[in-house]
Amino acid sequence: MPLVSPKEMFQKAYNEGFAIGAFNVNNMEIIQGIIQAGEAEKSPLILQVSAGAKKYAGLTYIVKLMEAAVATSNIPLVLHLDHGTDFAICKEVIDGGFTSVMIDGSHLEFEKNIALTKEVVAYAHDKGVFVEAELGRLAGVEEDIVSAEHIYTDPDEAVEFVERTGCDSLAIAIGTSHGAYKFKGEGKLDFDRLEKISQLLPNFPIVLHGASSVPQEFVKMANEFGGNIGSASGVPEELLRKAASMAVCKINIDTDIRLAMTATIRKCLVENPEHFDPREYLAPARNAVYEMVKYKIKNVLGSSEKI
Ligand code: G3H
Ligand code: 13P
Ligand code: ZN
Repeated sequence: MPLVSPKEMFQKAYNEGFAIGAFNVNNMEIIQGIIQAGEAEKSPLILQVSAGAKKYAGLTYIVKLMEAAVATSNIPLVLHLDHGTDFAICKEVIDGGFTSVMIDGSHLEFEKNIALTKEVVAYAHDKGVFVEAELGRLAGVEEDIVSAEHIYTDPDEAVEFVERTGCDSLAIAIGTSHGAYKFKGEGKLDFDRLEKISQLLPNFPIVLHGASSVPQEFVKMANEFGGNIGSASGVPEELLRKAASMAVCKINIDTDIRLAMTATIRKCLVENPEHFDPREYLAPARNAVYEMVKYKIKNVLGSSEKI
């Protein structure tokens, strides 16, 4: 099956109250672990590439790895640009074969965000490529932009933004944040705001960034085997399930992949100090990604058997 647009996936997800997992990819083992999980669960998937991933692996390597994934799997796959911050990077990946892009003008003021998003929409739609935009600001680090405070998405502005830009989905800020340290106390999301936005924008797919749940088993494992990632915490799974049952059709996960791999590699190296073949720790790390993504699809996203 060739790479597809997320359009049909989101329509089904919206109608049936589940969400598609959008997983960040940086290398072959991560791609393989995610896709094997999608295969096992018969789930559609979005694999997303940040500017940092593009720089790390190289665009051609990522695209060719995705071609290999497409050639060897039977599930619908989207190749998406995560947090594109300017027109040039969106154009580059659209020309390179991506089926979906995010133009993230959330750091700009409203009119400038609209102008940039419109420019990307015009180019992308001409090539049949889907466009996610963002309005509001998540606390935490996105690419190199650090934002100390959340700026929650204003529902009326969201309507105006979608109407004027013609974007296909919208990432909103309702309390999630990027990285491994999301909440000091109890995790909370502004579901009233999500509900209001979805009432004003009926049948329109909403995206949740910063949606890793930071499984404590990996935090514990990493800390136990020489790591120091302190008291990390994520979005409680029941909040993600609730969001998926509402208008949220895409849930972004990167931190959980990093934690699963790193905790596993730490454990492997400590338990087997004589090992020096990278396959001896990369294979278990890939398997940890597989198990984590499979669990997420089945128990959080609800996208099993939805192809
Ligand atoms: O939202 C950001 C993603 O987690 C990607 O992170 O820019 O370090 O690749 P990165
Ligand atoms: P996490 O840091 O919560 O995994 O969020 C990832 C993300 O939003 C990628 O765009
Ligand atoms: Zn993000």
